[in-house]
Amino acid sequence: MSANSKINYLVKPGGCFQGEITVPGDKSISHRSIMFGSLANGKSEIEGFLEGEDSLATLKAFAKMGVEITGPENGRLSIEGVGMHGLEMPDSALDLGNSGTSMRLMSGLLSGQNFKSILVGDKSLSGRPMKRVTDPLSQMGADIETDNGTAPLKINPHAVLHGIDYDMPIASAQVKSCLLLAGMYASGKTCVTEPGITRDHTERMLKAFGYPVEVNGNKVCIEGGHELTACNIQIPGDISSAAFFLVGASITPGADLLIKNVGINPTRTGVIDVLKLMGANLSLENNRMFGGEPVADIRVKYSQLKGVEIPEELVPLAIDEFPVLFVAAACAEGRTILTGAEELRVKESDRIQAMADGLVVLGVDAKATDDGIVIQGGQIGGGEVKSFDDHRIAMAFTIAGLRASDEIKVIDCANVATSFPGFVELVNSIGLRAEIDVEAHGQ
Ligand code: S3P
Repeated sequence: MSANSKINYLVKPGGCFQGEITVPGDKSISHRSIMFGSLANGKSEIEGFLEGEDSLATLKAFAKMGVEITGPENGRLSIEGVGMHGLEMPDSALDLGNSGTSMRLMSGLLSGQNFKSILVGDKSLSGRPMKRVTDPLSQMGADIETDNGTAPLKINPHAVLHGIDYDMPIASAQVKSCLLLAGMYASGKTCVTEPGITRDHTERMLKAFGYPVEVNGNKVCIEGGHELTACNIQIPGDISSAAFFLVGASITPGADLLIKNVGINPTRTGVIDVLKLMGANLSLENNRMFGGEPVADIRVKYSQLKGVEIPEELVPLAIDEFPVLFVAAACAEGRTILTGAEELRVKESDRIQAMADGLVVLGVDAKATDDGIVIQGGQIGGGEVKSFDDHRIAMAFTIAGLRASDEIKVIDCANVATSFPGFVELVNSIGLRAEIDVEAHGQ
């Protein structure tokens, strides 16, 4: 496709999710598998890797630093680890595309290298806050520059990082992980205390690669100077991608869907808790462990949802799933209120505003607040909504088509490829009718 074209989705009203699916591999775990596999001693085999643009950006960055990676092919790849000090200086800036996870985690890891690196990203990533990582990294002794708090990030080689005890002001797994990665290169202990529980894939993967890490409640500590030993990782389906189907089936009379092999790490299952509070008919089957992460098949059937006040402690556990949860709220009886979620304003887009604006276009009574949203359930109409180049906004409004009275056109959906290649094909295969519309620019 030409760089001058843009992708929109045309979603026909109605349809119903029926059948059995799997969703692509977990994005957070895919990024980390490349990072740890690259720094390990020996060869790691990965299965279930997400072949989306975000995790591929991480893969390409490590390939550019001299790591030999074979694949991915059907989600399988092998990584010849170069050891903790084996990365080579990249010959140009590392382009991390749309991926905040890649940029923030790599800023920590690269702060510990003895070469200079520059991290750049697309327009959305270049507007996202980076001081949340560069401030604590500077406290550890890193020499890292931002452009007024945003990317590009310039990391100069620095002889010694030292551990710090950091009280994280926001609940962010990216910040925590960034500091743990830097901590592997620091003298002494690096400890991070989080104000709320955030995803713990970094801690789990450190253990899988044999690197000691201490977890005590909401405090995690790592000591520099240990090694990572290659291991094989099986990556489960991404619950953040499954969320579109959990909501899609919950809101459509007659729906009955089985989503197989979904990661249900307890630091990620806020979407299930919120939907259950709303009265969703969800059941977990075949619970098992898969590559150090809990996994289950999730069966979901239609149920009339009701509006709820979302408990604030669930916010970090469902942080990426709110766009589609707002669609659930629009289909619920009564009012849904979200508070304590100001972080949604600094994701790939301002997700509070993007969803409120689009829902209003579709005739839903939705009001953005500083730290959340208030949505009165009702009928979803048709219309043209913007995704603001945000993959999760684009997919959320596609799912809204299941309960819309008219066609929904979702503008600028190319970034769905960052996290969910094959999304349109998958929704169509189980009962939605969405078309990809390629539009020449300026049309
Ligand atoms: C992620 C952490 C979360 C999440 C992001 C992935 C990770 O970001 O929104 O999609 O893989 O660590 P924050 O740490 O900014 O909350």
